[in-house]
Amino acid sequence: MTSFPDPTDLTLEEKVSLTSGASFWYTEAVERLGVPAIMLTDGPHGVRKQRAGADHLGIGDSEPATCFPPAVALGCSWDRDLVERIGAALGAEAADRDVAVLLGPGVNIKRTPLCGRTFEYFSEDPVVSGVLGAAMVSGIQSRGVGASVKHFAANNQETDRMRVSADIDPRPLREMYLRAFAHIVREAQPWTVMCSYNRINGVYAAQDPWLLTTVLREEWGYDGVVVSDWGAVDDRAASLAAGLDLAMPGPTHAGDAAVLAALEAGTVDERRVDEAAGRLLRMIDRAQHAAADPVDADAHHALAREAAGRSIVLLRNDGGLLPLRRETAIAVIGTFAVEPRYQGGGSSKINPTRLDTALDEIRSLATGPVTFDPGDRVDDAAAVASAADVAVVFLGLPDAAESEGYDRDDIDLPADQLALLDAVVTANPRTVVVLSNGGVVSLPFADTVPAVLEGWLLGQAGGGAVADVLFGVVNPSAKLTETIPRRLQDTPAHLGFPGEHGHVRYGEGLFVGYRWYDARDLDVAFPFGHGLSYTTFDYRDASAAVDDAGDVTVRVSVTNTGTAAGREVVQVYTGLPISAVARPPRECKAFASVPLDPGETREVVLTVRREDLAYWDIRVDRWVVEAGVYTVDVAASSRDIRTSVTVDVDGDDVRVPLTRMSSIGEVMAHPVAGPALAQAMAAAMPDLSGAGGIMPEGVDIARMLGAIPIGRAGMFAAAGGADVDPALIDALLDDADASKD
Ligand code: BGC
Repeated sequence: MTSFPDPTDLTLEEKVSLTSGASFWYTEAVERLGVPAIMLTDGPHGVRKQRAGADHLGIGDSEPATCFPPAVALGCSWDRDLVERIGAALGAEAADRDVAVLLGPGVNIKRTPLCGRTFEYFSEDPVVSGVLGAAMVSGIQSRGVGASVKHFAANNQETDRMRVSADIDPRPLREMYLRAFAHIVREAQPWTVMCSYNRINGVYAAQDPWLLTTVLREEWGYDGVVVSDWGAVDDRAASLAAGLDLAMPGPTHAGDAAVLAALEAGTVDERRVDEAAGRLLRMIDRAQHAAADPVDADAHHALAREAAGRSIVLLRNDGGLLPLRRETAIAVIGTFAVEPRYQGGGSSKINPTRLDTALDEIRSLATGPVTFDPGDRVDDAAAVASAADVAVVFLGLPDAAESEGYDRDDIDLPADQLALLDAVVTANPRTVVVLSNGGVVSLPFADTVPAVLEGWLLGQAGGGAVADVLFGVVNPSAKLTETIPRRLQDTPAHLGFPGEHGHVRYGEGLFVGYRWYDARDLDVAFPFGHGLSYTTFDYRDASAAVDDAGDVTVRVSVTNTGTAAGREVVQVYTGLPISAVARPPRECKAFASVPLDPGETREVVLTVRREDLAYWDIRVDRWVVEAGVYTVDVAASSRDIRTSVTVDVDGDDVRVPLTRMSSIGEVMAHPVAGPALAQAMAAAMPDLSGAGGIMPEGVDIARMLGAIPIGRAGMFAAAGGADVDPALIDALLDDADASKD
């Protein structure tokens, strides 16, 4: 068997040609050597293979493919096995259509609910996004098809997305915006990572050597292909030099010429071209071995229905209005029941193999009368509602409200829909609301309408899934992966979005999503992690212990205390109340989706990885686990903590060299210099030591002195009549430094 060509078989021009696309969706072939072109296409929740034409905005027609629930919905399952199964089905459909790389999953953090593309992303939390994103990649790649984790990085808004600079401090950048990518790269080795359009701290992601080489390659060990977002590359030579391997789309003959000129001029190293071409050849080779199993469209539709059922969040169910009995007389109201909104706009838009409507599916499960009114004349809707036992009202955002390419202006449902709901509830208080929206909407009726289902965008089988949940064929088990706020004004990025003059400053720092609402103690409509069931769960006997690997093992017994079989999403949040750095009160670090029959108890074991306890220490530019007693909250939502324990975690050794600018407090904290300085100070200023350091004037002298740089201490001591030899300070610092060894 002859081996696949490697870069040494190619001419320089051939190698350069591989580093950009041949067309909108294909890589370049090297026919002379039998290297075929391969196809990359969207993604993320279906295969969008265009039949003719080429666009990345979801405009042109594409081959029918299963439209699975977009990430906004699927993420709410919190179930990595389910997400992996969806990934495998996507991989199979891609392989079946000769697609080598599927452009997904999208794992950007939902910084603001206004982002037009939040429907393509999993969560406001990086651990949830990372774990589910890795599951999706593993599933897709299990079929010999590559995934493309996108958009790397900090692509958290659509406004000005091709130019804006996301200006982010190092801690939130690492802890919130890069964390999910790091997890996926390490756990699932995606074939490709797609860099984003935007700039980060002033530098285009597609041209950023720090992002594409220092972080992605050197720190995380990534050895796959970095592909640009479509049209993200401004300067081919600069992108290649920074670590980008494949500029899409193509052809860009001028770009190839620019790279060749840069090679000639020595501003791009030929080894970089070899490296990029080598990675592309490896990927093209791998793509020749995709699974070729035929796709069963019916089975995939059934899987899409199962996944949609697992994605619907039961937000409220007062008085057990749901599930409905099959014989109940039901008034179905609203056009979304017959013309479903099931996906968002833009490059992810799938041409579904079929499309369920909720009205048909309700009718096929019901044994009682089901009436329908589109809700466009309210009087009519109210009359239909009052004649039924229960009204089920479908509300949501219109298609044009949320899409790739632009953001929303508000989080309100259209006023005519709210008026419709008012009229229906007045006519029949036994009303259930079913929502269709890709980004959260404010719910002014959250405290008054007895039952609310957040249906998100559920993919092509969503209609059936809604019927399943309404009648209890499926017991809802999904939970929110993003907070539903009371008002837009309460949201973390409200004053820092969408930026101005090409810059958006992430001023809320680490306090994104529930981290913000919890730190500010703000009331929310429904908290992160919330979701009800038709049964109830009891949590007992939680424990947490550090294992040999340094991870924290959390155990808890969960019992289904109701009468229906169901699943509970158990969440673990950690916090460190006494910390040297700013921290949210609690952060989700582990979760599990647990199936339980009525009366059944299971011991659930969850692992909080030590690396997920770490914060990014800007003094030493690395991850550091701070020592301390961590709280471990085992919870049914971020605001429904069922049981709390603590665990004592050893910290990482961080030695920050002492200098003349180190504060007296920092020197005091040093194991060698601290005692020596304390002794010297007690001798030099004996009258400061009594009364617990509190001066007669009520001044805490230790705290006051603690903030003074040691190099300037002599100045103050001299003013007080003491004489401090600067050489003594240098000696003290040298001793501290030497003590490291
Ligand atoms: C989107 C990507 C997509 C690409 C190709 C871009 O507009 O940002 O997510 O994969 O187009 O369609």
